[in-house]
Amino acid sequence: MRKNRLHTGYTAKNIFCTCAILLTLFLSAAAQTTNPPSSAKKISADLFGLFFEDINYAADGGLYAEQVQNRSFEYNPTEQRDWHPLTSWEYITPGYSYGSISVETASPINSNNPHYIVLNAEHIGKEEKYAGPSGVGIKNTGFAGIVVNTGEQYNFSLFAKQLSNTPVTLTVTLQNTKGEILSEQSISTSSRKWQKYTATLTAKESFDTALLVILATTPGKLALDVISLFPAKTFKNRPNGLRADLAQLLADMKPAFIRFPGGCLAHGDGLGNMYRWKNTIGPVEERIEQKNLWGYHQTAGLGYYEYFQFCEDIGAKPLPVLPAAVSCQNSGNTWRIGGTGQKALPLNEMQEYIQEVLDLIEWANGTVTSTWGAKRAAAGHPATFNLQYVGIGNEDKITPGFEERFAMIFNAVKEKYPGITVIGTSGPFHSGEDFDKGWKLADKLSVPVIDEHYYTSPEWFISNQYRYDQYNRKQGQVYLGEYASWGNTMQNAIAEAVYMTGLERNGDIVKLSSYAPLFAKKDYTQWKTDMIFFSNNGYYLTPNYHVQKMFSANKGNYYIDKVIDKNNSDSLLAGSCVFDSGSGDIILKLVNAGKEENVFKINLNAFGKIISKSTKTILSGNAEDANSFENMDAVEPIASSFEVSKKMNYEAPPMSLTVIRIKTINK
Ligand code: AHR
Repeated sequence: MRKNRLHTGYTAKNIFCTCAILLTLFLSAAAQTTNPPSSAKKISADLFGLFFEDINYAADGGLYAEQVQNRSFEYNPTEQRDWHPLTSWEYITPGYSYGSISVETASPINSNNPHYIVLNAEHIGKEEKYAGPSGVGIKNTGFAGIVVNTGEQYNFSLFAKQLSNTPVTLTVTLQNTKGEILSEQSISTSSRKWQKYTATLTAKESFDTALLVILATTPGKLALDVISLFPAKTFKNRPNGLRADLAQLLADMKPAFIRFPGGCLAHGDGLGNMYRWKNTIGPVEERIEQKNLWGYHQTAGLGYYEYFQFCEDIGAKPLPVLPAAVSCQNSGNTWRIGGTGQKALPLNEMQEYIQEVLDLIEWANGTVTSTWGAKRAAAGHPATFNLQYVGIGNEDKITPGFEERFAMIFNAVKEKYPGITVIGTSGPFHSGEDFDKGWKLADKLSVPVIDEHYYTSPEWFISNQYRYDQYNRKQGQVYLGEYASWGNTMQNAIAEAVYMTGLERNGDIVKLSSYAPLFAKKDYTQWKTDMIFFSNNGYYLTPNYHVQKMFSANKGNYYIDKVIDKNNSDSLLAGSCVFDSGSGDIILKLVNAGKEENVFKINLNAFGKIISKSTKTILSGNAEDANSFENMDAVEPIASSFEVSKKMNYEAPPMSLTVIRIKTINK
C-alpha cells in the first residue's frame, strides 16, 4: 500500500498467522475462564505496556495527524534559534498580485494562543500563463511536505476574522511542488468576529511533498489563525485524531497501558515548561502551546483528552505521569549527569498544584455533575475513563525539595483517592544515589509502585536477567518505565527478550514495564535507540518492536515454574511459561541469544488436557541484522502451525525468540 511504502505490511508468509489468529479467537470464545495449575504464581496482567513521549517528532509531525506545521503561528526562537511565527510558511502573491502580511497579537482568538496573521490583499492580479489562482496569501510546507493520496479526503479548517467591510474569498489548494493543483476549494468570510471555516479537499493525485496554499482571491483584509489539515481517515476516524497506520501498530501490540506524556517532557525544561495537563484539553485553539524540551514545538493538539481516548480505543489503561512540582534536573540544556537545573515550585503554590493533580483524577473518573467530569463530558466523553494509575515525577533528582513536594502530592492523592495507584520515581539509572534515595523515600511513604529507568548495553541485560528475583517482596512493586539496550540490532532485541522472561518470572513484583522511547521520525531523531521509525508516509519496524509485540500480545496472568528446562549455566538461554486464564492458553517464550542452535526441554504435565496443534512464532536472524535504518525490515516474526506434546524438546535457532501458544481444554 502506497501509504506504507516503506513497510509493505504482512506478506504471504504471515497469511497463516491470520488464520491461526481467527482459530485462536474462535477457540477463545468457546473457552471459559480456565483455572491455572496449582503450582502457578499470580503475576501482573498489566506487565507489558507502552511509553509514549513527544520526542523525535513522535507527536507533532508524527502520531498526531495534523499536516500543517506551525498552524497557529506560535513558533519562536526559544525553540530553535531561527524559528519565528512564520516558520514553515511563505508569503506569496501569485499572478502579480500585491498586498501585505503581518504577525499580530492585539486581538487573538484566545489569549492562550496569542499570535495570528493579518493579510491585506490590495490587488489580485491576473497572469495568463500562471496555472493556479492569483491572489495574496500563504503557503505551508507541512512537516517537510504534506502527504496526499489519490481520491482521499482531507479536512481543512481555519479561523478567520474579516477586517474589511466586504467578504473576502479564500481559495484553498493542495499543490505539488510544480504548483499544479491537486485539490481546490473556496471559502468566503462572513463575520467580523473570529469564526471557524471548514472545507473538504479531495486529492486528484498522490503526492508526498504537497503544499497547502491559502490565497485571498478577492481584495480585502482579514486575520487568520489555526490553519489545519487532517486526513479524514485518522485512527478510528477521530476528529483531531491520530495517524491511522502508526496508531494501528500500537493497537496491534495489545498493550496493557500507555504511559504519557513522557519522559522528560513531563517535568519540563524549567518550571515554566512543565507539562500542565489542563493546558492540553478543550478546543485546540484555546490550548497553550509551548516549547518541546527536545528542541521543537508542542501544539498540545495531542493532549490529555486525545491520549485518554486513544487508550480507550485500543483497550489500554491510561498512565499519565505528572510532574512532582519540580522541573527536570537537566533543565537549561546542561545535560550533565546529576545536572543542577532542577527547580521546585514555591511551597506557597503547592496547594494549587496539588489541586491540579486531584482535578485530573476527577476529570478522568468523576461523574458528569462534578466540575471536572463535566468538562470531560462537554468534550464528548460522558463516560468515565477509569483511571487507575498516576505517575508522580519522572526520574527526578531526589533532592530535599523533590522529597517534600512528592510527599505532599502523594499523601493528598492517597487521602482523596485511595483507589488510585500512585507511581513514584527512582532516578534515571538502575543503581546509584538517586536510585537508592528514590526507593528509600518510597519505603518511608509506602509508595505502592516505583518507576525505574535504565538504558544500557545488551550484555548488561543478559547478565542482570535475575535482578528482580532478588527484590524484596515486602517493598513496593516495580514499574520498569523506561528501558532499552543501546541499539536496534537483533542482538539488542534478543537481549531484551532474555530480560523480559525475567520480568514475567517476577511478574508478582514487577507490575508494569515499557520500552522507551517508542517513536522516532527519520531525520528528526534526538534520541537513539527507538522502537518504531517512521517517515511522513510509512514506517520501519525494529526487531525490538517485534520482541515487545511478541511479549505484550502474548501476556499471561500466571507464571508457571519448572515447565522449561535448559542449560542453566548458559546465560544466553532464557525461557518463561505463562498462563492466560482468560483464553486458557499456555504461552511459552524461548530465547536463544547465542550463536548456536540450543535445546529447551518442555514439560507440560502440570496442565490438564492440551490441544496438540499450537501456534509457533519465531523471530530470528543474525546478531547484527537490522542495524541500519534501511535494513530494519530484515527480520520479521514468522508464524506457523506447530505440533506439541506434554513432553517435548524444542531446538531454538541461534539469535531467536520463539513464542508457542498452546490451547488447553477446559473440562
Ligand atoms: O526516553 C527518552 C528519555 O530518557 C526520557 O525523556 C527520559 O525520561 C529519559 O532520560
